[in-house]
Amino acid sequence: MTVPDTSQTRLAESRSGAAPLFSATGVTVRFGGLTALDDVTLDVLPGEVHGVIGPNGAGKTTLFNVCCGFVRPGAGTLTWRGQRLTGLRPHQLAGMGIARTLQGLGLFGGLTVLENVLTGADRFRRTGFGSALLALPRARADERALTERALAALTEAGVAEYAGRYPGSLPYPVRKRVAFARALAADPELLLLDEPASGLGAAELTELGELVRALAGRMSVILVDHHMDLVMTVCDRITVLDFGRVVAQGPPAQVRDDPAVIDAYLGEEASRGGDHG
Ligand SMILES: Nc1ncnc2c1ncn2[C@@H]1O[C@H](COP(=O)(O)OP(=O)(O)O)[C@@H](O)[C@H]1O
Ligand SMILES: [Mg+2]
Repeated sequence: MTVPDTSQTRLAESRSGAAPLFSATGVTVRFGGLTALDDVTLDVLPGEVHGVIGPNGAGKTTLFNVCCGFVRPGAGTLTWRGQRLTGLRPHQLAGMGIARTLQGLGLFGGLTVLENVLTGADRFRRTGFGSALLALPRARADERALTERALAALTEAGVAEYAGRYPGSLPYPVRKRVAFARALAADPELLLLDEPASGLGAAELTELGELVRALAGRMSVILVDHHMDLVMTVCDRITVLDFGRVVAQGPPAQVRDDPAVIDAYLGEEASRGGDHG
């Protein structure tokens, strides 16, 4: 990453000619009588960190779930590299080069940290179960390569020292990093992060921001979070949702001063006393 944070706007502009890696177009989701997403369009450019912010109930998680294939939109389309995705299923994501971390961490308690991260690297496994069982040399070489990949991801996430530990014995911020490492081990082209900052303190928030920023240019990231400061410093472009609609979209400097964004957040402060979560 050679572009400093101060040039995020320029970076976004220079990429604006590129074809999107991933698009959601005209997405509408209704839960009974409630419209959770209303005609939402979002393009993610190659190598861009794209933030999705908005007050509680704005539809962020619903949009995230649409992008993961957990929620099927009532209207709208998803495209990946210009190809329309129909009937996207969550288990297909990894093979396509999409990885995600969830609001709950979803780590396997019975596996070590390294084993957990190895599950993220699984799409690079070349040998089948049979040859692994027979411990054939190529299966062992395969296992070594996967382990190296997993350790590299743990190192990047700053938690390699915990490789042999079980998630249950680790503090929450460390577990968050392990979940992040597991997603990185898939070497995704698109990384989807839902509320990665939830439950983190101020110092950890800054570190998370640096971790995510370091990914820019190498992969595209969709960062869903309600921490304005984090999203503003880390993202190239931001989509702001309020009551399921896109109320603003653009680089941080532009979105920050948008009256519709200020309204959305002030509205939340007024109705909830600023208590996010
Ligand atoms: N499975 C569901 N069934 C019914 N309503 C839902 C469901 N999921 C979300 N909602 C509603 O949709 C709206 C958007 O929710 P959500 O996407 O979780 O917002 P956010 O993540 O921005 O807080 C909220 O009003 C929420 O109550
Ligand atoms: Mg949410």
